[in-house]
Amino acid sequence: MLVKSYGSAIAGIDAITITVEVSITPGVEYVIVGLPDNAVRESLFRIASAFEHTDYKKPGRRVIVNLSPADIRKEGSSYDLPIAVGILAASEQIASDRVGRYVIMGELSLDGSVLPIKGALPIAIRAREEGFRAFILPEGNAREAAVVNDLEVYGVKNLKEVCDLLNGDGHLQPVVVNTREEYFSNVSKFDMDFADVKGQEHVKRALEIAAAGGHNVLMIGAPGSGKTMLAKRMPTIMPPMTLKEALETTKIHSVAGRGSEGGLMTRRPFRSPHHLASPVSIVGGGANPQPGEISLSHNGILFLDELPEFQRNVLEVMRQPLEDKLITIARAKYAIEYPCNFMLIASMNPCPCGYFNHPTKECVCAQGAILRYMNKISGPLLDRIDMHIEVVPVEIGEFSRNRPAEPSEAVRARVVAARNRQTERFREDNIHSNAMMSTRHLQKYCPLTPESSRLLQGAMERLSLSARAYDRIIKLARTIADLENEARIKEAHIAEAIQYRSLDRETWGLK
Ligand SMILES: Nc1ncnc2c1ncn2[C@@H]1O[C@H](COP(=O)(O)OP(=O)(O)O)[C@@H](O)[C@H]1O
Ligand SMILES: [Mg+2]
Ligand SMILES: [Zn+2]
Repeated sequence: MLVKSYGSAIAGIDAITITVEVSITPGVEYVIVGLPDNAVRESLFRIASAFEHTDYKKPGRRVIVNLSPADIRKEGSSYDLPIAVGILAASEQIASDRVGRYVIMGELSLDGSVLPIKGALPIAIRAREEGFRAFILPEGNAREAAVVNDLEVYGVKNLKEVCDLLNGDGHLQPVVVNTREEYFSNVSKFDMDFADVKGQEHVKRALEIAAAGGHNVLMIGAPGSGKTMLAKRMPTIMPPMTLKEALETTKIHSVAGRGSEGGLMTRRPFRSPHHLASPVSIVGGGANPQPGEISLSHNGILFLDELPEFQRNVLEVMRQPLEDKLITIARAKYAIEYPCNFMLIASMNPCPCGYFNHPTKECVCAQGAILRYMNKISGPLLDRIDMHIEVVPVEIGEFSRNRPAEPSEAVRARVVAARNRQTERFREDNIHSNAMMSTRHLQKYCPLTPESSRLLQGAMERLSLSARAYDRIIKLARTIADLENEARIKEAHIAEAIQYRSLDRETWGLK
């Protein structure tokens, strides 16, 4: 007998339906065809063991399993379940008439229990698009897949539950996630707030500008000055993720096998990889390609804490994706893409000892040591960073003063308004934030008044700002003007923007 069951393969962040044909004919051997990798081949052993523990029989005849389309690479062990179901149906141990309605994915352990898979959300999206009625998958991935409406999602613990369901005598209910309700009730809910940070008005203002214009940021300050605390709160002042963004981000996490327990991710991700992280774990890749940190932070924040500690090659490989908002991972026979539209926030001490320019503590570093330290971060990455913000620790007195600070919600409202202005401005361009402006956009959207122009020229000379600072200052001034709902870039906007380019000043010796 011949039975078709359905599984799915992941390419990038999308899924492709895989047909699993099982044919049982006279003979003895087991054969799998259709470009399986080793894990798929090994699946026959797991299936045989699972059958034994679930009181099913391995057919004593010739079993041919064909995974198609053949030209799509099928990785991993999650085809165990559709293959097992196909074998059971083809050997008439379970009913075969319902099998074709389902997409079925899951790895079998030797005792017949079912282990989690990667990519449940994109698989569910594809299954619904192709008109499947339901998706049977491991219990742990069920909420992730149930984000998709109009598709029944069954989370199962073991092979037995799958068979009961297909035989029509199960009691298993589909898992239901009310995606819209979950989205709307969580999208603006955070467990931290900008108001938790005392003082630091100057830094908060700078971070508001960063969020408003999508500008990458470097914070420079002594240990304990609150850099990490501030960075972690960035998602709370950014515009809420749209439902589309939320789905996209959840898809990436799903593909990486880090699907959200809560179904849909509604908050912008905040990722903070360790400085010893490898280039592959940061940008993605590997033998079975996986999204890296830059993609896991898609639509959110990538925080590189202690920037100079990162390996130079890590910073180098981030250069292109920072520009393209997309990373392409090429293999001999195929290439896949992962989106990576993240905002970069980096932090660093001002010098090796940490106390250069500190209000009360003494820096013990030699001038040469400071220079070498700063030079570690110059080059590719620094060129993509619009703002350098100096963070000075708040005075002890500030902690006890208990002045109420502005809540994230209020800051966020201003950021949203400024973002809306940018959306309107770039309606006919292929960009959506001031940070993405090219020289051509700058000429079109950022004419300076004669006064502003004179101010900027003067500052360039007086502070010996490097040439690269020029465009950055205008971009930042554009965002500052947007926050004020000003069509024109005025002197005050330029004057403020100049403050956020500290590393271009001669004092740091970074040229
Ligand atoms: N402005 C501040 N308001 C409230 N707490 C602060 C502030 N600055 C520092 N802290 C406290 O100091 C701790 C260390 O801050 P952190 O953000 O880790 O500093 P950094 O990353 O600059 O080394 C924080 O966890 C927080 O408890
Ligand atoms: Mg820190
Ligand atoms: Zn020092």
